[in-house]
Formats: sequence, structure tokens, C-alpha cells
Amino acid sequence: MMEPRAEFDHLAENYEGRLRHPVRDGFVRTNEFYHRRKWMLIAEFFFRSRVATRQLAWLDVGCGKGELLRYGRYHFGNVAGCDPSREMICQAQGIELRLQEAPASLPFPDHSFDFVTAVCVYHHVEETLRLPLTRDIRRVLRPKGFFCMIEHNPFNPITRLIVSQCPVDAGARLLSAHRARSYITGARLDYLESQYFLYLPEGWFDKAGSLERKLKNFPVGGQYAVFGQKTVYDGARG
Ligand SMILES: C[S@@+](CC[C@H](N)C(=O)[O-])C[C@H]1O[C@@H](n2cnc3c(N)ncnc32)[C@H](O)[C@@H]1O
Repeated sequence: MMEPRAEFDHLAENYEGRLRHPVRDGFVRTNEFYHRRKWMLIAEFFFRSRVATRQLAWLDVGCGKGELLRYGRYHFGNVAGCDPSREMICQAQGIELRLQEAPASLPFPDHSFDFVTAVCVYHHVEETLRLPLTRDIRRVLRPKGFFCMIEHNPFNPITRLIVSQCPVDAGARLLSAHRARSYITGARLDYLESQYFLYLPEGWFDKAGSLERKLKNFPVGGQYAVFGQKTVYDGARG
């Protein structure tokens, strides 16, 4: 019997082409900026928190082709990714990537990671599975480990326009930062902070990135990041 194909198996071929949109393309010089900007945001979070990452283990859930992990791989002790789409992860080379066979069950043992990210994943996850997925993220985190969810901001009209016309996002259901936070606290992670970003096109950001950082609390950036932490150690219950 043929195995069922994950939604993104159909999108993996020519994935970059399918992401193309005149407004999205006009914002950046190359698509790489979207990954670079997220890596900067993550690196700044750890710097601000005075946490050295050199010895830490990072898991990117829904890693796709592993592009974000490539930015961080030399800054962490080890990095890994998982994704339900075999076709997406088979295109990521040189990083440990595992197939995720169930939408809310990660293919890693309890307490394996110090940092977990999920970038532009939750809007593709059925709403009833979002909290179970976050609980499983908590399970694989070590005590004091951090979780960062990055999502499209539904309050930004340009984001909504691009999402509504992009084939990769057909069927996507955007969630607000407030809702993202509720998954974090609902999964018994401590909420730490949120920030909005992607206000400025790449050319402007490179000249005036400090302006974008000043705007981080205004809920109109193109995307947002929400950070949580597993602060209570209850090993028996995970
Ligand atoms: C828009 S892509 C983002 C890929 C990557 N995170 C990035 O930022 O480039 C969404 C990814 O989420 C994955 N995904 C969908 N449902 C998921 C789930 N329940 N758990 C983990 N990943 C999931 C898809 O297979 C796809 O690779």
C-alpha cells in the first residue's frame, strides 16, 4: 500500500518558486533575508538572556529544507530538524533531519534539546493539534530549555495579502501572537517575551535595523516571535 503523502511533499519541488510573490520578492534582495533576519532575532534573544549557545542542542520542528538551521549550526553544540514531509527534508543536506510521522509527536526522546523552534509551522497545523504539538515540544525540551515560535502576523495587511495568494499557504489558518502565547502557557511553558519584526525591507533594515528593533512591541510587523521556557523540572511527567 502507498504511504500517505504529507501536504508539503506536493510543494517541495520548486518550493522557492511557489513562494514567489511580487510584494514578497520586492521586500528583499534574495529570499535568504527571511532566514537571516530570523537567525539574527534568535541570536539577539540569547545574547540578551546571557545564555551561551555553544554547548546547546537545537531542534527545529517543521524545519522544511533546514535553511534556518544552516545559519545557527556553528553557534550550537548540535542541531537537528524534523518535518512530516519526506520531500522537504530530503533536500536538506549535512544536518541531522528526521521524518516526523505524526503531526503532534516528535521523533526524539524526552529532554533531548535546550532550544526548540517552530517557524511558520503552526498556521499549517490543524487547530486541535496545536496544543498537543506544543506539549510534545515541552516533552523534548530539557529543564530551562527555550521554545521560540515564529509566525506570520495576521494583523499585518500585507502579510494577509501574500498569504492569501501564495500556493504554499493555501488552507493556512493564521494565528495571532496572543493565541501563540496561549499555546505556550497551555503546554505549561513559562511565557518570556514576544516581538514583532519584518517592518523594513532588506535594504532599509541593513541601514536602520535599530529602528525595526524599536518597533518590536507594535503589533503590525510582518511576522512575530514568541519565546517560552520550561522552567519547572518535573522529570517524571516530562
Ligand atoms: C511554510 S513551511 C516552513 C518551513 C521552515 N520552517 C521555514 O521556515 O522555511 C511549513 C513546514 O511545516 C511543516 N509542518 C506541517 N505540519 C507540521 C506539524 N504538525 N509538525 C511539524 N511540522 C509541520 C511542513 O511540512 C513544512 O515543511
